[in-house]
Amino acid sequence: MSQNLKDLRQQRWRHRLNFYAFIASLLGEGDVYPPTEFAHPVSKDQVVKAWKGTADAINKGQAPKQLGIFIFVPFCRTKCLFCPYFSFALSSGKQLDIYTRSIIDEMNFFQGVFNHTEFNTVWFGGGTPSILEKDHLTRIFSTLYDLFPFTRDLQITFECSCSSTDYYKLKLLHQLGVNRITLGIQSLNDRVLKVNNRLYQNRKESMNLINDARKAGIEIVNIDLMCGLPGDNLRSFLKGLKEIMALEPDMIHINPFFPSDETHFDQIGREYSEKDMKRRSREANLGTEILLKAGYKRADGAFLGFCRREGVCNQQEIDRVKYTSSYLSFGPSAESHAFGQMDYTNAYFGKKWNKPVLPRYIGRELDVKEEMRKHIVSNLRKVIVRKDFKNLFGGDIVDNFKEEIEILNDFNLVHIDQEKIFFKIKTRQEQLILAKHFFKPAYLKGMATKFKVRFNKNKNYFKEITKLIDSSV
Ligand SMILES: C[S@@+](CC[C@H](N)C(=O)[O-])C[C@H]1O[C@@H](n2cnc3c(N)ncnc32)[C@H](O)[C@@H]1O
Ligand code: SF4
Repeated sequence: MSQNLKDLRQQRWRHRLNFYAFIASLLGEGDVYPPTEFAHPVSKDQVVKAWKGTADAINKGQAPKQLGIFIFVPFCRTKCLFCPYFSFALSSGKQLDIYTRSIIDEMNFFQGVFNHTEFNTVWFGGGTPSILEKDHLTRIFSTLYDLFPFTRDLQITFECSCSSTDYYKLKLLHQLGVNRITLGIQSLNDRVLKVNNRLYQNRKESMNLINDARKAGIEIVNIDLMCGLPGDNLRSFLKGLKEIMALEPDMIHINPFFPSDETHFDQIGREYSEKDMKRRSREANLGTEILLKAGYKRADGAFLGFCRREGVCNQQEIDRVKYTSSYLSFGPSAESHAFGQMDYTNAYFGKKWNKPVLPRYIGRELDVKEEMRKHIVSNLRKVIVRKDFKNLFGGDIVDNFKEEIEILNDFNLVHIDQEKIFFKIKTRQEQLILAKHFFKPAYLKGMATKFKVRFNKNKNYFKEITKLIDSSV
């Protein structure tokens, strides 16, 4: 190939990557595929029908057998400065009663659908699930056990905040079947907690909870910490990490703060400076180094998650990535995936909860090719075994994505042999940019219209996303 032609191809590829960076700057951290922006309203009956199709396919061995339930609880004690999730401060105990009733009603939509199909994971996420009281928890769990069959090795993960959890609640959770908790500590520095509107969190109580969980019989304890937080510094971050490590939790996540436009931090006009970004990278890198040196291993399926032993990761997160498995979700803002049928979201974003709430489903249909895209997008930093891919989807990855893979091969971004394929990607930022290479072209074309912005080919979008997504990890 002549030099001129090579230069032209290189230039075209750079332009294309800049376009992918533009899309990544719109979608930010969210690497949900297919993108939620293209969803349309779907009825409860369509959702139930989709699940009947998926359950049938699982029973016939035509869809991954891993199957999860996800329950989203939107309430929190206060709203943290750094939090981008759909979560808000609880205003009265009555809201929890109404929430519980609404969730149970929603679970009842699926009566009989899963009679012969077992779930292997349940995950309570939020928001703050531990804000629920004994009565709510007992009712939700007894409905779950009445309506859905579970495997013998069922993993139930429950996210707890320090202020709403004590030994007695942990004991109750254990009795109800919870065998893995995630404790959101984020920081052990009182000043950082204050800056981030987590004044209620008490450092000593937070640390004691790790032992309380063990005493209560919870098998697996995961701790969430954050790096790059507003008001923090490298010394205080490392001190906190070491204090937590001394308590030997089974797993530690270091979540780098992403100042997306859904956070209060961004909404009140705070700027995340170059200096902050450098500190975030340094904290993430040093934290990783310290954990690996101490014998923690990188966790499967989790970004910057580290575990001390096998089998302590969130199994549902692993299943979602490794098998593109199905999960049935309940609660506002929750996403569900019915393999081969539909991805849908409960797009109810109300905050009042003063009367029973019906889910407002929006979805996008899925076929096998879309499942393949979904799988590649979430496995870009992993080795994909071609035989496993074929077993999951009935077709070879290279045959199905010939053009996409050839381009990456030209630029030395992929390794392919008879058995496996892996993409030469080093950072999360590269992952989120290159993921767009596997999006359905119609989604890429339509994105600017959805967000009502134009792609400006003279603008450097790589700079734009560095603020949102750390470039070093
Ligand atoms: C959905 S939150 C639930 C946490 C729990 N409610 C608590 O007490 O903090 C799950 C995790 O997301 C992480 N997180 C929250 N905001 C984040 C942000 N802006 N960037 C990166 N990670 C974030 C935190 O580490 C948190 O533990
Ligand atoms: S980080 Fe946790 S406690 Fe804070 S607002 Fe988000 S979900 Fe609620």
